[in-house]
Amino acid sequence: MKIAILGTGNVGKALWKGLSKKHEVKFGSRNPIPSKVNGAEVLHLSDAAKWADVVIAAVPYRAMREVVEKAGKENLKGKVVIDVSNPLDESGAQAVGFSSSAAEELSKMLPGAKVVKAFNTVFAENMGSGSIGAHKLTLFIAGDDKSAKGIVEGIGKDIGFEPVDVGPLRTSRYIEPMGLALISMGFMQRMGTRIGISLVKD
Ligand SMILES: NC(=O)c1ccc[n+]([C@@H]2O[C@H](COP(=O)([O-])OP(=O)(O)OC[C@H]3O[C@@H](n4cnc5c(N)ncnc54)[C@H](OP(=O)(O)O)[C@@H]3O)[C@@H](O)[C@H]2O)c1
Repeated sequence: MKIAILGTGNVGKALWKGLSKKHEVKFGSRNPIPSKVNGAEVLHLSDAAKWADVVIAAVPYRAMREVVEKAGKENLKGKVVIDVSNPLDESGAQAVGFSSSAAEELSKMLPGAKVVKAFNTVFAENMGSGSIGAHKLTLFIAGDDKSAKGIVEGIGKDIGFEPVDVGPLRTSRYIEPMGLALISMGFMQRMGTRIGISLVKD
């Protein structure tokens, strides 16, 4: 599969590590210099969006609108767009919740794209393996398009996660606060980033 990761930050690089073994992965960047990151090609946001089958938006929530505009809404039409964001405002407070979610807001910006929420409940440090030691992490997935969610489940399994379908895109309203709880435990409660969330099933 051709996967474009928009954003060359911590999450972008971690997902590249997890995905590049089984997929063709390129980065999309506001400023594609240098032209390679971790050996992968870095394109302008719009060229990366045009090239890919699946696009991962690995950018801050507050930058989403600007990135979508630069990537080009037409280039994202009909494509699976994965939103990994934990919606925080400039002050570090939760930016959206209860009546909407970052993923739903992204979906409103991208009519025609198949937006799927995933990866936000995982620290970048553990995103390239989907596990911590012997423990597989759960990949919580929300979206309205069944086939798009199936693709994200496949990508998650390829990395090493245990994917779980949480429900339609509006259930991102529940998954996003889980990511914020993880951030609080990791940083404010000083547990560090080698922690993660797994769903226990009988
Ligand atoms: N870090 C984690 O552990 C973690 C875990 C789960 C979810 N997330 C979510 O994943 C997303 C990316 O997080 P990250 O840790 O990878 O952040 P990061 O290291 O700061 O990287 C974000 C990347 O987004 C791109 N970007 C585009 N527009 C931007 C803007 N206006 N300001 C800043 N960066 C912009 C930049 O890449 P270019 O310069 O190449 O355009 C930048 O490197 C966020 O939404 C975050 O909430 C993070």
